[in-house]
Amino acid sequence: MKPISWGSAWRISSNNGKPSQGEASVEAKLNKDEVRAAYRKVAWVYDLWSGLTESKARRRCLEVAAIKDGESVLEVAVGTGILFEKILALNPTGRNEGIDLTEEMVTRARARAQKSGASGYDLKVGDAYHLEHADHAFDVVLNNYMFDLIPEKDFVVVLSEFRRVLRPGGRLVLVNMTTGAGWFNTVWEWLYKTWPSLLGGCRGIELTPYVKEVGFEQVRREYVRQLFFPSEVISGVKP
Ligand SMILES: C[S@@+](CC[C@H](N)C(=O)[O-])C[C@H]1O[C@@H](n2cnc3c(N)ncnc32)[C@H](O)[C@@H]1O
Repeated sequence: MKPISWGSAWRISSNNGKPSQGEASVEAKLNKDEVRAAYRKVAWVYDLWSGLTESKARRRCLEVAAIKDGESVLEVAVGTGILFEKILALNPTGRNEGIDLTEEMVTRARARAQKSGASGYDLKVGDAYHLEHADHAFDVVLNNYMFDLIPEKDFVVVLSEFRRVLRPGGRLVLVNMTTGAGWFNTVWEWLYKTWPSLLGGCRGIELTPYVKEVGFEQVRREYVRQLFFPSEVISGVKP
């Protein structure tokens, strides 16, 4: 794994399909109940889709997070627990917690964590909008492919929750489906508008301005593309 320094210059991995900052996102089409229903249905096939289109950005998320064993780490929206399993391996003596809105996803994440042989973790159903954690409880908060599901008007609300539970100096790393300038972006947008649940309710967004708005510092963004699926990896530090 490639360690990165938090102060280092940010790198755009590819200019091909690089989005222009500040583009408006397509509005979210699924409400919370519809999101739950969509993920209840796709839980069994989620890992296949995710392995083909999101594994590269997920790897980068862990590199950027640079978790040190012994830290306290929260993953919000764990899904089937692909990233959480890797967090457990990197942080065997630390505190590892994860939540997800959908019971079926948490059940899968628990099974995966149990199979890995790790111990001392906590996985439960929870809502990113109202984290049941104390202020300043975590060194690291990670969240992959969730903001691309929720309405843009809620971005600041949820990011403020992430900021609240991070200690000063704590690191935030987010991964989302983003917008791109290539033809494939038009295809993703058309698919989302026509059949939003097919993409699990995800549409391309640009979250960096909101991360800055809630007061994170050293905010960096990286564009990662896998099989024409455009992702952004965003990091920031709580002052
Ligand atoms: C596209 S999946 C991503 C799962 C996982 N992070 C990954 O990258 O494989 C989106 C997940 O976000 C969860 N989710 C959606 N809204 C949420 C919320 N308000 N709070 C917590 N989890 C949420 C869904 O239940 C689903 O498991």
